[in-house]
This record gives sequence, structure tokens and C-alpha cells, in this order.
Amino acid sequence: MHPETSSKSPLLQITLKCFFGFETILAEELNELGYADVKLLNRAVQINGTWQDVYKLNLYSRCAIAVLVEIDHFFIQSEEDLYKRALRIKWHEIFDVNKTFAVKGAVYSHIFKNTHYPYLLVKDAIVDTFNKHFNDRPNIDVKKPNVLFDLYIKEKEVTISVNTSGLPLFQRGYRSAVGPAPLNEVVAACLIRMSGWDKKQTLIDPFCGSGTLLIEAALLASGIPSNIERQHYAFKNLKNYDASSWESLFENAPRVVRQLPCQILGGDISDEMVLKARRNLRNFSFGRFVNISSTSFDQLKVEPPVFIITNPPYDHRLSADVEELYGQIGSWLKHKMAPSTACIISSSEEGFNAIGLKASLKRQVFNGDLDCEYRKYELFEGKKALH
Ligand SMILES: C[S@@+](CC[C@H](N)C(=O)[O-])C[C@H]1O[C@@H](n2cnc3c(N)ncnc32)[C@H](O)[C@@H]1O
Repeated sequence: MHPETSSKSPLLQITLKCFFGFETILAEELNELGYADVKLLNRAVQINGTWQDVYKLNLYSRCAIAVLVEIDHFFIQSEEDLYKRALRIKWHEIFDVNKTFAVKGAVYSHIFKNTHYPYLLVKDAIVDTFNKHFNDRPNIDVKKPNVLFDLYIKEKEVTISVNTSGLPLFQRGYRSAVGPAPLNEVVAACLIRMSGWDKKQTLIDPFCGSGTLLIEAALLASGIPSNIERQHYAFKNLKNYDASSWESLFENAPRVVRQLPCQILGGDISDEMVLKARRNLRNFSFGRFVNISSTSFDQLKVEPPVFIITNPPYDHRLSADVEELYGQIGSWLKHKMAPSTACIISSSEEGFNAIGLKASLKRQVFNGDLDCEYRKYELFEGKKALH
């Protein structure tokens, strides 16, 4: 089955992958983008749509890591079945022989003794299909393939999809300068959405590093797609690529703002990181409206109430006396920032304990491989602040 572009063809099964724990956040984002019927899966959500939707989701979703389009779905009894069924797919109608490709994904099945083997079988089916039709074969490029296929096997159930994003969507194309412990861009977008920030309150990141949270917040507030600076999309390498449809979507996307609907401020104790954040912000029309100070968090000139979203150092990759620092953060929040809301992502349990405030929300999240927690604090003035 080849995913057709024609308006008469049935709707595509579109799967959007996300990080652990952000399924409902992604579903909520899709609802706002106009997709009412969203099915929740494990680290993914599913909708039905057209190729126009696929282009739109690649550009507009801030919380997805990849947009997959299902090519085939079937059941197998043996290893051989996978090759046979994959051989029925008209791969040569999906992409040209001069494009490189790779097959990646996830396999949870007792049918295969070696978990690499299923990928090899699908790769063989692709190569054999091209050889049969053209006496020529496409090359494999595991690192930066032009065309990427996704193989998902759960026991006997197989789903083969084309990954229309290619490189993961957190590679936004705007961050030229990174620090030693950057926050993943998609995680940042998900945390901002999870925080409940209304895009009007003053947003502050006092440990802004290279500015990921500030940039994602400004993109969200200004309605500019987070992927506006990204050039690479694997769907451009498919045979059915509709360049004019993509170009009109891309050209019409908002990218310039005269002002932000709210104040967004950052700070970092490191001059080098402040320069990096400013350099990253320069890629955007709103860059000049985001003020970043080279200062310790407790010296920031801000008047509560504000909305704080931040990612303080967590010892794991940056050396810091975590308990002392988080203790200081706790008393700064309590004594200087109330009434405000503060959301903190950190992998340091002892750090959170040292803050000494009761969280109104706690979620386990991952920043890459790093197991973290995200906590939200409502800071009240007077006696309530102590509870
Ligand atoms: C985990 S990193 C933040 C990374 C950032 N979210 C990003 O995506 O690049 C923590 C940052 O806190 C900064 N920092 C450490 N102590 C600080 C302090 N007392 N006040 C303000 N910033 C501080 C470090 O320079 C570092 O850039």
C-alpha cells in the first residue's frame, strides 16, 4: 500500500511520537491545532489525516518528536513472514533509487532472536524490490538518511511507517550555541504547555543557559511555529512530495512579530551562557524583546507576580553544591517572589527537598536520558507561603 496524495484516497494513519509522559500534552496541542479525534498510545498519539496535515504537523507541532505515516500493518508468525510481507510493499513508488534510506524503530517480539534482524529483513525487502524493478538499489545511510522508515513490532503485530520528519523535530534549526547541559527543545515546549502559563503573565527563566525555555515560550506566545528555522524534512525526499503545497504552508506561517504579548526575561550567572542565549535569540524577530541579564538568580530585577519556568543546575553534568543552591532558590521564591508561580525541572531529589516548598504538581519527565522531575509551586504571600 502506497500512501497516495490524491484527495480521493482514504485518510492516512498518522502517528506522532513524543517523549515519555507527554502523550496528553501532545494530544492537547493537536486539539488546539484542530484535530479533535486523537488516540493516546505509549509515547505517541494517533490521528487520521492527509498529506497536507502531515506537512502542517511537522511545521506546527512543538511537542512531537516525529510524524509517521503508516504504509502497512499486518500480522506475522515467523521471521520469514516479515520479509515476505515487506516485499509486497511498492517501495519504488515511495522513493527514488538515488535517495539514501534507513530502517529504525522498536521491536518487542519473541519471534526474533536477534533484535537487529527484523530491520535487516525490511532493508532486504526494500533493496530486492528496487533490484527487481530497476536492476539498481538505493544506498543505506544510518546517520542522515534521505528517507527513514519506522518498523514497530509488538509480538505478532507489525506496523511499517515512513518517518516524514527524518531527523527528530527537536532539531529546530535555531540553536547554534549550546551550553554543557541544554534542555531538549521539545521537552521545553512540553514543560511550558504543562505549566499552565497563560502567555500573558511575565515569564522568567533565571537559569536560562542557552535560552531554550525563553525561546520556546516566545515562539508559543507569538504564534510562530517552533520549526520555522528548520530546513530538513524527510517528506521532501518522497516521490509524492508536493512542493507547492509545502511552500505555501511554510511561506504563510507567521514569523515576524512587532512585539510580544507579554514580557519574557532571562538570567544566567555565566557571561558566556548569556552571550549564547542572546546569539540564539538573534535568529528571531522577537529576539530584541527578550531581555537577558548576566546575574545570579537572586539579583534579578523582577517584581512579582511572575511566572517562573526554569532548569537549575543539577550536579549531574554541572558541578554545584546542589543542596545549598536549591535551599537559596527556596528562600528566594518564598521571600522575594510571592505571589508567583514557579515550575522547576531537575534530576536532583536532594535539590527538591532543599527547596522546602510544597509542590502543587509533580511529574516524572526525561531530558534526553536524564530521569528528572517537574514540580510546580504556587507561592502565596504571608503565612500560606510556609505551607
Ligand atoms: C542546567 S543549565 C540550564 C540550561 C538551559 N535550560 C538550556 O537549555 O541551555 C543551568 C544554568 O544555570 C546557570 N547558573 C548556575 N548558578 C547560577 C546562579 N546562581 N544564578 C543564575 N544562573 C546560574 C549555569 O550557568 C547554567 O547555564
